[in-house]
Parts: sequence; structure tokens; C-alpha cells
Amino acid sequence: MRKLLPLLSTNPHGGGRSALTCRFRCGDACFHEVPNTSDNEYVGDVIAGVLSRRSALRAAAVVTVASAAGGAVVLGGAPEAVARPGKPGSGKVDGARGLRFAAVAPNTADQVTVPAGYAQNVVIRWGEPILRGTPAFDSEKQTAKAQAGQFGYNNDFLSLLPLRGEHHRQVLVANHEYTDEVLMFRGYDSENPTREQVEIAWAAHGLSVVVVQEEHRSGKLTPVTRHHLNRRLHTTSEFELTGPAAGSDLVKTSVDPEGRIVLGTLNNCAGGTTPWGTTLHGEENFNQYFAFGSSATDKRYGVGTGASERKWERFDKRFDLRQEPNEVHRQGWVVELDPYDPDSTPRKRTALGRFKHEAAQPRLTEDGRPVVYMGDDERFDYFYKFVSSKRMKKGGSRAAREHNLTLLDEGTLYVAKLTGDSPAAEIDGTGKLPNDGEFDGSGQWIPLATASADGAVSHVPGLTADEVFVFTRLAGDKVGATKMDRPEDVEPSPRSGRVYVALTNNSNRGKGTNPGADEANPRNLNKHGQILELAEHWDDPASDGFAWRLFLVAGDPNDPATYFAGFPKEKVSPISCPDNVAFDPHGNLWISTDGNQLGSHDGLFGVATQGERRGELKQFLTVPKGAETCGPIIQDRRVLVSVQHPGELDGASVENPKSEWPDGPGKIVRPSVVSVWRTDGRDIGV
Ligand code: FEO
Ligand code: CA
Ligand code: CA
Ligand code: CA
Repeated sequence: MRKLLPLLSTNPHGGGRSALTCRFRCGDACFHEVPNTSDNEYVGDVIAGVLSRRSALRAAAVVTVASAAGGAVVLGGAPEAVARPGKPGSGKVDGARGLRFAAVAPNTADQVTVPAGYAQNVVIRWGEPILRGTPAFDSEKQTAKAQAGQFGYNNDFLSLLPLRGEHHRQVLVANHEYTDEVLMFRGYDSENPTREQVEIAWAAHGLSVVVVQEEHRSGKLTPVTRHHLNRRLHTTSEFELTGPAAGSDLVKTSVDPEGRIVLGTLNNCAGGTTPWGTTLHGEENFNQYFAFGSSATDKRYGVGTGASERKWERFDKRFDLRQEPNEVHRQGWVVELDPYDPDSTPRKRTALGRFKHEAAQPRLTEDGRPVVYMGDDERFDYFYKFVSSKRMKKGGSRAAREHNLTLLDEGTLYVAKLTGDSPAAEIDGTGKLPNDGEFDGSGQWIPLATASADGAVSHVPGLTADEVFVFTRLAGDKVGATKMDRPEDVEPSPRSGRVYVALTNNSNRGKGTNPGADEANPRNLNKHGQILELAEHWDDPASDGFAWRLFLVAGDPNDPATYFAGFPKEKVSPISCPDNVAFDPHGNLWISTDGNQLGSHDGLFGVATQGERRGELKQFLTVPKGAETCGPIIQDRRVLVSVQHPGELDGASVENPKSEWPDGPGKIVRPSVVSVWRTDGRDIGV
């Protein structure tokens, strides 16, 4: 029997998060009513109408193939549950290629714990200068001006891009999701923040671009300060709205009567890296920054009617919705950044819809059109994809680059509807597998709107195209999209094309009047989350149908309500609250967690997705007290993670820190990026 660590005390927030996390990160989203109270089921007629219109748009030949093929791709059979025997005494660690490391045990150490034989370094901390002329970090004398040239707070999504012509260097792009004022400012008075504190927080949000130097023969990375590509974008930086909702009446404000230029990007959570060398950044819990909302400004996004937590509305009227009701419509998008052009204005791509975007990860159709998968991270919200109508141009010419920077402005936005294949009576809400042995079924991509150079067309009766793109949640409600358990990060496998979606948890599933379990979300009061595996029909990412099954149902493997793709449970690590996902060069899926409910700190795990070891999950690292693991990147030689919100535990403050990471006792706690590598210089996990 696996010995479990004692459970954390019961937390009213539904996950393993501290109250501080809820307050600063999500604006206490868990305390509020679930925003999706729509009754989707009545809309069957609407779907039928939408589907017939969509079918008419598609080539008749394709429809014929669909009928002939029965319309579904069948996901392969359950893996053979066979584990290769270990080699005792040889010192060789067993596992799928890329995952041959000694699994890290669940623990509550105030450090980044890595497998034996691995080393680590802090790549960059909150406050380290990255721009020319920026002073060194001094937490007691911090200024907004300094922060605007320094690495931001609460690093989340990470991307590493190649840097041609510069030896052993890469370009690191990071999201800075939100600020923890009580952990940043000594004596912080949340009722009376000062202008300087607010402006520091503005500058600590957003994005960083920083070139990093590789160390010879290790995976160590260090920042190259003052590189010409280094960049900070934050709450007062300029962003361009592009695509169908740009210029619409819904996004015009008194300072931007054209509705095309927005200041700031907020709550950038996860993201993605495009095949044409740009990065995508999801604007997630943007609602919490706005004050004095109303039913006209809310539209199911959880915009509050009172003052905001951070009181920014006292210092800039754009955060006061009584004065600028449309300002909130200018957040909640996917931002596209060109990290290779430090003078470029990042774009908010309105064709990808507006919701609490966790992540956005593209893959290409056979004819080269990008398809972007996206989750809306809220209990009972939806999973989406965008299919571009334009093909990516290859090559590094200026013309190709300019063309590729328009790919995400034209195409169709879809929302997912999932149908289980087992009788509803067999989905009893406990997580017990149905009689066919799998939580699985088929799915439809329901089109919401199409954007083209000639304008945009709504596919949702009763909503204009502008409304679909700006109030995308309402469009999902109307077409009967499936209410999911917090769709977070998403990653298509570069090898198989299958798409993996992290569904973090949903403590409200089956509670009160909330919807109960369904086959894709099979546990009521779901504390630990699951990972969905999706295969598009004919392996075509532009398809309007897919097959799905649950790849992992997370939790303690001793809990019968868990599932690890059929792999023997006694051979896997416990996992809780999957959040960010990434693939390694061997085709293994890596999963970071947010809010572990099994008594351990959050961590990073690797799991084989193919072959006889499919489902063999192993823990690679754990993070310090109060922290969440984000932004994993797995390269041949290194594993990179964001250690987000270390020390964010109830009662913590600058005066009373709850973590000593990364710099030890007496030093302020700092969110940081960490790189991990093998001390013998070989590749990760081989
Ligand atoms: Fe920012 Fe959904 O986590
Ligand atoms: Ca089934
Ligand atoms: Ca996240
Ligand atoms: Ca990812």
C-alpha cells in the first residue's frame, strides 16, 4: 500500500488552493455562483439547424466519406497492461524512453525537488532586470519604473524559441498572470493601495521576452540582460485588436473611439507557440480587474458590481465600468506576440473568441491551415477550436512572416459538444468505469461564427457575429456546448495528432442545482480532475467531428475512482488537478498541477501516451510551499518550469512569509523560472 501524506485541512475553495490564491488569482471565482446557469439541453433544434447549415458549407464529397466511414474515428484499443521488468542492481531506471528517471515521491519540502541524478538552477526571478538601464531588484525600494524593465510577477506559461546566429542562445517568453500584493509590498493595506503600488502591479503583469544563454554541457540557462530582443509588455503597453470584433461598437471607448487600440493584457495564464514562430497568450480571469459592473457588462463572465480587489479603478477610469462600460470587452482574448520583432505591436485576435482563455495551442491541417485548440477555465465552461481559412507560408521571408501574422484573423470558431457512448445509468458520478471499460464517446464541433475578409457571419440564431466573438460564452450556451470540469491547457501530440485537454477539477459537479456527472466529466464533487484525449475524424484537425476518451482520471491510484489509461495503478504516481500540458521530444505527455488535493505540493509528471507503457505516470518534480507548477517545456537537455506563487498560503505576507524559496531565510519570496537537467550531461529520461 502506498503511504499517503496526511490530507490538507478542508478548504472551502474547492481545490487545494489557499484563500490567497483565490483572492488574487481568480478574484474569488470559487466563492461566487457558477456563472454558467444556462439550460443547454433545450437547444437540440438549434444544433440541428446549425449542423445542417454547416454541412451545406462543406464539400459534398467529405460528407459522403463521413457516411461511408460511419462518421467516426475509433481510438485504438486499451493498451496492453504490461510492464517491462526492471533491472535490479544495474542502476538503470525503468520507464518509457524519455521517462527513465526515479519518480519523485509526494512531499511538502520547501524547495524544487528533482529526481536523483538531476540538477537545477533558477533561470530568472521576479524583479531581475532585463532591459537596458533598469536598476537591480530591491523589494524595499521597488518602483513602477524599475518593474517595467524587470521580469514580472507570477510567471506562468513559458515558450522557448530558437535564436539563429547566436550561439547556444534561445528566446524565452513568459506570461505574468497576476500579482500578490500582500507578498510584494511590506505593510500592504488592501483598502488603501498607493498609486505607486498599483503602478508596480500594472508593470508586474503581462509578458516578458528575455534571451537566455545555455551553459555548455548542462541544461542550465541564464538571462542575457539588455539583449535587443528583450522586452516587457504590461498593463499600459499598447495592443492592437484585430479580426472580426476589432472596430465593433462593443469594443469602442472614449479614448479609443475606433475600437482598435487597447492598453494592457491581463491575467495571462497559459498559451502556445505557433509553427510560424510567434507566441499565443490567454487572457484568463480578466473580470476581477474591473469595478462596478452591471448586467450589461457582465454577460456571464463574473464581472463584479462593487469595487475591485486591487482598487485600480481609483487610479485609471478604464477599470471603472460605470465610466467605460466597454473596457472589459477589450480583455479576455488570445494575444499573439512576435518575439523576434521588438518593435511590433502584439495583437489581440478576436476571431478566437472572448472567454477566460487558459491556453491556445495550434496544429496545422494537411494543407497548412492552423487549427487552434482552446479551453475556457471555469467550472462548467466550454472547449473550443478555431480553424483558419488561410494557409501558413513556409520560409523566413518578410512576405511570408507578414502573411503568417494574419492567419488567426480569418476562419471559423467552433465549440465542442461531447456525447458518451455508455448508457447514462452507468455513469453514476463515482468515477466507476462503465461496462464498456472506458469513459469515451463521440463529439461535434459546433460552428459559432466565421470571420473573413468580407466580414463576419454568425452561425448562432439570435446573436450577431460581433456578439458571438465578444460574448462567446453566450454563444456556447445557445448551441448546447458540453459543460466541462474547467478546461485548462491543451496540447496536440506532435506524433499522433491526438489532442490532450487538462480538466483541472470541479467541486461543484453534481452539487445542488449544478449539472451532475456525464461520461466526459464522470465524477461528482470532482476534486482531482481528468485528462481528455481527442482524435479528430480522419485525423483532420479541420473536421467537424471527433472521438474522445478519458486518458487519465486523476487522484490517488488507491482510489477506485481513478484511471491511468488502463496501466497498472500500483506502478504510477498519485496526481491531482492537472493544469498545464506539454509534449517531450519522445511523444510523452508532461503534466503540471495546480492545487494538489492529496497532501503533497504541486508538481510535474510525465506519462507515456503510446505503446505498452501508455498510462505509466511518473512524477518528475515538486515545487515549494504554496506554489503551483506551470509552463513546462521539455527539451532534450532540460526541463523548464514556472514556479508560480510560492509562499501564497493563508496568512502570508512580506512580514510573515510562508516559504523561503528561492533565496533562503530573510529574503523575499520570488516567483521564478527553474531549469532542470541531468548531472551526467545526457538527455532527460533516456
Ligand atoms: Fe490561470 Fe486556469 O489557471
Ligand atoms: Ca464508454
Ligand atoms: Ca493555469
Ligand atoms: Ca501547454
